[in-house]
Amino acid sequence: MFSRIAARNFSSSAANAYKVSILGAAGGIGQPLSLLLKLNGKVTDLSLYDLKLAKGVAADLSHIPTKSVVHGFTLADDGLSRALQNADVVLIPAGVPRKPGMTRDDLFNTNASIVKGLAEACAENCPSAAICVISNPVNSTVPIVREVLKRKGVFNPQKLFGVTTLDTLRANRFISEIVGSDPAREDVSVVGGHSGVTIVPLISQTQYSDTIPKEKADALIQRIQHGGDEVVKAKDGAGSATLSMAQAGARFAGSVLSGLAGEQDVLEATYIDSPLFKDEGIEFFASRVTLGPQGVKEIHGLGLLSVAEEDMIATAKETLRKNIKKGIDFVKANA
Ligand code: NAI
Repeated sequence: MFSRIAARNFSSSAANAYKVSILGAAGGIGQPLSLLLKLNGKVTDLSLYDLKLAKGVAADLSHIPTKSVVHGFTLADDGLSRALQNADVVLIPAGVPRKPGMTRDDLFNTNASIVKGLAEACAENCPSAAICVISNPVNSTVPIVREVLKRKGVFNPQKLFGVTTLDTLRANRFISEIVGSDPAREDVSVVGGHSGVTIVPLISQTQYSDTIPKEKADALIQRIQHGGDEVVKAKDGAGSATLSMAQAGARFAGSVLSGLAGEQDVLEATYIDSPLFKDEGIEFFASRVTLGPQGVKEIHGLGLLSVAEEDMIATAKETLRKNIKKGIDFVKANA
C-alpha cells in the first residue's frame, strides 16, 4: 500500500523529467541556484559540479523532499563528465566575480579559460543540452562557448543562451519603485548585451513611457545598466550579485525547461547567436525569444524604438562588436 502511494507521488511524466547540471554549483550563485532548482518540479536529476564542496552542497540539498535526486561531483573520478552525461540543461556560473572598481571585462582573463574548458566538456558529454552561460563577461563568454561547440561540430544556435535575466529583473523592480506598481507584474524588455552601455532597457515600450519624466527615465536607465555595481559596492570586495542572480538563473532555467516540455508562449530575453544585426557583423544580441521543445523557437525583433533608444542600440552594438571578437579571438588563439 505504502509503496503504491509512494510510486504514484514520485512518478513523473516524460515531459517533466529533466536532468539539470550546474557547473560552479558551490559558489555564491551556484548554491542558491541549486536550491531553487531543487524546488523545480520538472527537475528529476540535479547534478552539481564544482572544484570544491559540490558533494557537501548536494548532500545538503538531497534532504529536501522534492522528487529530484541530487549528485555532487568534483574533479576526482571524472566528475565533470559524469555531471554532464545525459544533461538536458546545463547552467554555468563557474568563474570569478567582480570586486569594487572592476568591470565585467576585467574578468575575461580568468573566466575565458574556465568557460572554454567547461564548454569542451559539454560538447563531449551532452552535445544536445541547452547551455545557459552565467559567467561574466557574458558578452564574450557566450561567443567562446559557440566557437568551442563549432569546433567540435555540435553547435546548435537554438540551444546556447547568455543569461541576461537579472537585467530584466532589475528593470522590473526599479521601474516599479518609480511608478508605485507591483514589480512582479512589470515586464520591461531589456535588449543588447549584459554589461554597462550594452544593457538597453526599452522604457518607451512600457505603459509608463509618457508618464515618467525624462530625467527620471534617464536615471532609471542608468540604474538598470549599472545595477550590478550597487551590489558589488555594498558587498565591499566580497563579490557581486549572487542571490538575485540565482533567482534570475532559476527563472531562466525554468523557462527553458517549460519550453522543452512544450508549454506555450514561454518568453524570455536572452543573449544568443542572433540574426538581428548579423548583416552589420554583430553575431550575438539579446532580445526576447519564445522558447520551445528544441530551445529557441522564435527570435523577436526589438519593436518600435524611441530616437534615444536607437542611439543606445548603436552604442551597444559598437561595444558588443569588440566583446564578441574578443571571445572568438580567444578560442582561435587557444585552440
Ligand atoms: P564565486 O566565486 O562565489 O563562485 C564561483 C564558483 O565557481 C566557485 O565555487 C569556484 O570553485 C567555481 N569554479 C571556478 N572554476 C571552476 C571550474 N573550472 N569548474 C567548476 N567550478 C569552478 O562567484 P559567483 O559570485 O558565484 O559568480 C560566478 C560568476 O557569475 C562570475 O563570473 C560573475 O561575474 C557571474 N555573474 C553573472 C551575472 C549575470 O547576470 N549573468 C550576475 C552576477 C554574477
